[in-house]
Amino acid sequence: MTSASQSSVINKTSGFISTYPLTPIGSTESILFEESQNNKLKNYVENSTVKNFLYNKLIQLNPEYDECSPFYICDIGEIKRQLKLWKSELNFIQPYYAVKCNPNPDFVKMLIQIGNIGFDCASQNEIKTVFKAHQDLGLNINTENLIYANPIKPIYQLKFANSLNVNLTTIDSIEEIEKIYKFTDGNMNVLIRITTDDSSATCPLSIKFGSDVKYSKKIVDKCIELGINIRGIAFHCGSGFKDSKTIIKAVKDSRDVWNYINKNQFNKCDILDVGGGFSKENFIYPAKILNNEIQKFYGNELLNNNIKIISELGRFLSASCFTLAVNVIGVRKEIDSNKTRVYLNDGLYGNLNCILFDHQEVEPKVLTSYGKYVYNDNINNSNSNNNNEMNQYSIWGPTCDGLDCIKAKTTLSHDVKTGDWIGFENAGAYTNAAATNFNGFTNEFECTFIDTDI
Ligand SMILES: Cc1ncc(COP(=O)(O)O)c(C=O)c1O
Repeated sequence: MTSASQSSVINKTSGFISTYPLTPIGSTESILFEESQNNKLKNYVENSTVKNFLYNKLIQLNPEYDECSPFYICDIGEIKRQLKLWKSELNFIQPYYAVKCNPNPDFVKMLIQIGNIGFDCASQNEIKTVFKAHQDLGLNINTENLIYANPIKPIYQLKFANSLNVNLTTIDSIEEIEKIYKFTDGNMNVLIRITTDDSSATCPLSIKFGSDVKYSKKIVDKCIELGINIRGIAFHCGSGFKDSKTIIKAVKDSRDVWNYINKNQFNKCDILDVGGGFSKENFIYPAKILNNEIQKFYGNELLNNNIKIISELGRFLSASCFTLAVNVIGVRKEIDSNKTRVYLNDGLYGNLNCILFDHQEVEPKVLTSYGKYVYNDNINNSNSNNNNEMNQYSIWGPTCDGLDCIKAKTTLSHDVKTGDWIGFENAGAYTNAAATNFNGFTNEFECTFIDTDI
């Protein structure tokens, strides 16, 4: 497998090694990217941990004078650990980071620098993010390591991808094949995205995407009729999938369609895309199942080294790398009860949209209590809540919408007042990616990088 950071690409059909420039020649958009930036991270703090960084930052901020906007810390060490974990179980599957999960440009750059990473882009802007990251790092891009993994593409974005030589995409309908034929002169390779039974996943995707085995074979026939090159199969077991039986059926179904393609198309399939859906918490067991099924159904191809298997990893790579810190902007004690409402400067319309869109359960961690730094502090102090009569809190975002409720009922390790800080760990997946500026609150957040694995 070639690395995303290598400047050359082996053309599958010709076998020639060619490089592809970052600025598309003859593209309708001749000036794509701004001036290249220095490849150093803007915000990088050496020799720190999340806890130390937060301590040093929070003691400098005074809520009476400073804005105290929400901010992120990203631990590069955690990216390395997650990639190591992936390799320990599924070394033969190349990660393609699903940019949608967290498109932070510096995070994308880190992934390019650290790992043998490809990218799953679902739109023109995500493609631009990946190209720009390579440009900033002074690297040519190997477009073989990009997949435009959206089965339904706007025509102008399809043409844009094609003009950049991003010529691998997923499809799940005959209509999309006709679109590709018409608007790329057939110059786009495809993976057929099959449906999976992902009904038990936190975020099922097959409700919207994928074709069943029978329809997939009709799509194959259409591709062959129009001369569109099929390189293989893609599936996704649902984001946050729980039932590993989904994997077993998906791999089996993929082989069924794979065989049909190989029987009818002159070029043999050579890419299997097993999608995303893994998380740090749910990895080892499903990875073993996936490994097992792939050996069972694609063992020959693996043995003969004529298959590339990729995985569109989103939350597995990004979730645990980020911690979010938010400020308490108001507190209201309920009269005649031990309940307290805590209002934060981030919520469901901001980074914590993950509660609504991604069905995440978040756990607020008190970082400061009455101005004292208490993150991960087990020591009793006057404001700690480690007795049985813990106060009940509800936690709210800053907007004027009653929907903006982060936690309807929770406990906190320590009491908080206006100006204190609350943290959310594992905040890197589907958070800032979909934050809005509803009610005039910002959706641009500072992110500082540290590395706990040097
Ligand atoms: C096509 C596709 N690939 C990859 C992903 C990433 O999934 P996850 O973050 O669960 O790994 C998604 C998520 O929606 C997706 O739709």
